[in-house]
Amino acid sequence: MAHPTRLAVLISGSGSNLQALVEAMRRDPEFGAEIAVVISDRADVKGLQRAETAGIPTEVVRWADHPDRAVFTNVVCDVADRYGAVAMVLAGFMRILSPDAVDRFPNRILNIHPALLPAFPGAHAVDQALDHAVKLTGVTVHFVDEQVDHGPIICQEAVAVLDDDDPETLHARVQEVEHRLYPAAVRAFAQGRLEIVERTVRWADE
Ligand code: GRF
Repeated sequence: MAHPTRLAVLISGSGSNLQALVEAMRRDPEFGAEIAVVISDRADVKGLQRAETAGIPTEVVRWADHPDRAVFTNVVCDVADRYGAVAMVLAGFMRILSPDAVDRFPNRILNIHPALLPAFPGAHAVDQALDHAVKLTGVTVHFVDEQVDHGPIICQEAVAVLDDDDPETLHARVQEVEHRLYPAAVRAFAQGRLEIVERTVRWADE
């Protein structure tokens, strides 16, 4: 088999999607990827502990230590480069990267969003779905482009909103789907099975 695709996984918090990726890679020798480094913009988050437990190197790049978004972004990309990562996987990373990231990793940054884009972009997708009283929300995995929560969609899955949902119960069911969908998308990417044609992402068979 070809060398595994080396990934930088970017987090800001709990890291449950990171954990799902780690476990999927462990279970599946054909996965085709390895996590070279986990980068967090915040110290002392659970996701960093998860990475350390899994034996993955970690780096913290604090937002406040950098003068602007472009410098912060380039430092994050430098760290990814230094660990030999060829792609970046955003897993609950709560900072918006500048377009420099897309220049440096074109069509090689993936993101997961807890709604069916283009509905409810931004940081409050679960609350907004409840406020809007939609009957269906869900999960989107997409490539990152220069706009927030906008790039070519890799996969989506719907999650029903129940009458008695609150933000915690709905987010918990959304996350169950995330933990299945993100590993599947990252695996297909790592295996070179995703082709982008304009906005359309085509999945090649295994
Ligand atoms: C996920 O719901 C993801 O969709 C959003 O941030 C959350 C991160 O959760 N972008 P976790 O840190 O992976 O547990």
